Amino acid sequence: MSKESKAIVTGGAGFIGSHLIEKLLSKGYEVICLDNFDPYYSTQTKKRNVELYLKNDNFTLVKGDIRDIVLLKDLFCGVDYIFHQAAQAGVRTSVDNPMKPHEVNATGTLNLLKTALDFDIKKFIFASSSSVYGQISYLPFDEQHPTFPVSPYGVSKLMAEHYCRVFSELYGLKTISLRYFTVYGPRMRPDLAISIFTKAALQNSSITIFGDGSKTRDFTYVDDIVDANMIAMHKGKGEYNIGGGHSISIMDLADTIISVTGSTSDIVFKECIKGDAEHTLANNEKAKRELDWKPMVTINDGIRKYVDWMISQNK
Ligand SMILES: NC(=O)c1ccc[n+]([C@@H]2O[C@H](COP(=O)([O-])OP(=O)(O)OC[C@H]3O[C@@H](n4cnc5c(N)ncnc54)[C@H](O)[C@@H]3O)[C@@H](O)[C@H]2O)c1
Repeated sequence: MSKESKAIVTGGAGFIGSHLIEKLLSKGYEVICLDNFDPYYSTQTKKRNVELYLKNDNFTLVKGDIRDIVLLKDLFCGVDYIFHQAAQAGVRTSVDNPMKPHEVNATGTLNLLKTALDFDIKKFIFASSSSVYGQISYLPFDEQHPTFPVSPYGVSKLMAEHYCRVFSELYGLKTISLRYFTVYGPRMRPDLAISIFTKAALQNSSITIFGDGSKTRDFTYVDDIVDANMIAMHKGKGEYNIGGGHSISIMDLADTIISVTGSTSDIVFKECIKGDAEHTLANNEKAKRELDWKPMVTINDGIRKYVDWMISQNK
């Protein structure tokens, strides 16, 4: 492959970023992973996520922060694609500490965009979120749905999206924002419902649901997210929903996990947590039409794959 195929994956030691790196390396791209190994969850887990790639000559691991503009200037030379996955993730944590998501997700994205202008970047691909929608006017969400985030995390992601759009309109930088709907799969973050429920189910311990379990989510398998990113290198501009396209209640999700794992776990209920969206469901028509992308993994198949992976990890 020619030297025009060099990519930076910010947040590459995290869940989604590490899958993206695997795909890019398998296609022969040269990849720089920029990650500060933030202790939001186990840094050991993040080290394990990228360990395998260290043997690949096309892979470089840089421990650093997207808020460090001097470092970014050093790294961007010769880079063609920026896959911006780094973030202070977590809706709930943003309710307790709204400053950090702003600094990392909004200001951090602005740093990357500003630095990108000084280099010959072919495409800036931003990991946005269904959290930009927040308050529901109608479902499923299409990209025209009003954006009214209900958490500081959602606000920070929306701000970053706007920076991407404005940098495209004002300065001609090619940008795209992919609005991921709750992502799951091997190596997924430990703070998300599917990983918490599966861990509890495999230990036959109680599964805790916040609220009455009637909230619904559109879950997206990580391979589908990676595919959307790969397509976005060459197609699309603006904002796109990237969702599984099916909705499942949290109660049904817990029941499915209990059934797939053959667990004897019971379900307990606790008070709702502030900042959580009531429902999410993606209308993927725009991504189908303009990116020729559609989700391939059903929730049942995805949960099965994830449970198999979890079991393989505990052997
Ligand atoms: N997982 C989901 O359900 C989901 C849904 C919607 C959007 N997203 C977005 O997708 C992206 C990836 O999410 P994920 O689930 O893989 O999260 P993750 O926490 O596993 O990965 C994010 C990575 O970014 C790194 N990071 C954090 N702050 C940084 C900084 N200042 N400089 C450099 N690196 C930094 C972290 O160390 C981590 O490895 C994020 O932008 C997230 O907001 C995720």
